This record gives sequence, C-alpha cells and structure tokens, in this order.
Amino acid sequence: MKIFIDTANLDMIKEINSWGILDGVTTNPSLIAKEGVDVRARVKEIAEIVNGPISAEAMSMTCDEMVKEGRELAKIHPNINVKLPMCVESLKATKILSSEGIKVNVTLIFSPLQALLAAKAGAAFVSPFIGRLDDIGQFGGDLVAQIMTILENYGYETEVIAASIRGPNHVLEAALNGCDIATIPYDTLKKMVSHPKTDEGIQKFIADYEKSKKN
Ligand code: E4P
Repeated sequence: MKIFIDTANLDMIKEINSWGILDGVTTNPSLIAKEGVDVRARVKEIAEIVNGPISAEAMSMTCDEMVKEGRELAKIHPNINVKLPMCVESLKATKILSSEGIKVNVTLIFSPLQALLAAKAGAAFVSPFIGRLDDIGQFGGDLVAQIMTILENYGYETEVIAASIRGPNHVLEAALNGCDIATIPYDTLKKMVSHPKTDEGIQKFIADYEKSKKN
C-alpha cells in the first residue's frame, strides 16, 4: 500500500519523508488554511521535497472554471494532481482534464457509486472519507471495500486513496481491504511506528548489552 501524508505542513512532510516510506501528499483547503499559506506556493514547495503525487484542490464550482484552474495547478509541477469535489461539474471536468493527461483526484467520496462514476470519467484517484463516515455511525471501512470490489470487477486503473483517517485502525482497515493508498495524518503515522512491547524490548536489550560489557 502506498503511504501519503495528509497535511500542508512542511516540517511534518520533511520528517516523514526522511523515514523513506512516503509516496505522496494530499492537501485540502482546510489544511492549507491551517498553515496560512497560498496553495500554489505551498504545493510547489511540497513537490520540491517529495517525489510523488501531490494533490492540490481546485476551488471552482463549474466545469469550465475547474478545467481552467486545474490546468493552472497542473502547470506548477509535473507531480501535481488536481483535486475536485464529487459532483456533476467535477465529473465533466475530470473527463476533460484526464484526456489532457492531467491526473484528477475526485474527493469527498461517500458512496461506492460516486467512486464508479469518477472512475468512468477518468479519475486517476478517488478519495473515500473513512473517518467522516465513522463520525456519523456508518462504516467507512465497508465503503473502501465496496469501492475496491467495483473497480476491480471492471479493471479500472483508478487508485483508491483511503482518506479522512483518524487513527492506526483506519490504516489497518484500508490495508486489509487492499486499498491502493492511505493518506495519513502526521500523528497517526507516528503512532504506527511504536508499540510498548517494542520499546520495552529495546530497553531490555540495551540493559543486557551494558551488563555483558561489564563481564
Ligand atoms: C483527503 O484527501 C482529505 O484531505 C482528508 O483526508 C480529510 O480528512 P478529515 O476528515 O480529517 O478532514
């Protein structure tokens, strides 16, 4: 499974990139606003750090405007993907942009049929939001599983990004469902590394090693 980080914070991106496990980055208007930066300038900076797909969200609401904004975003760097929210206008825009070789990530996917439509329109990525479904008492993991089945049934090349991840269990759920990509917040990535028994084991090995040196 490919691992993306879901943030627009450069320090976090640099740190996780240094682990050697980072395949890409997703941003959204809320994450950009949290950093207080301009989206174009920030995704350019990110693309200079990470060698992989970087999603930048277009804020237009009509097909023509989405296409125009998408073309501008894609010009920033070859690794920039255009993120569009799922709707009729974005399906039309996805068809046009993908036919020009611009990769589109259709976001805010909450049903398997939305993902099917986005894949048919030529989306390179679809982003089902696991956490926001769990927040309202539905099962986000089931959505990912259904999307994987449908896209595999028909051989779509669209990659599924498990998004809106709240913790390690969501990553586990995505991986068990064979999801292509999980876009993971910084704190969750940190939690995925550690286990109390690993820490305990390391301390014991160090203590025993120190003891053996004294013999
Ligand atoms: C995905 O690309 C989105 O940026 C993100 O995962 C949304 O997560 P949230 O529900 O925590 O805002």
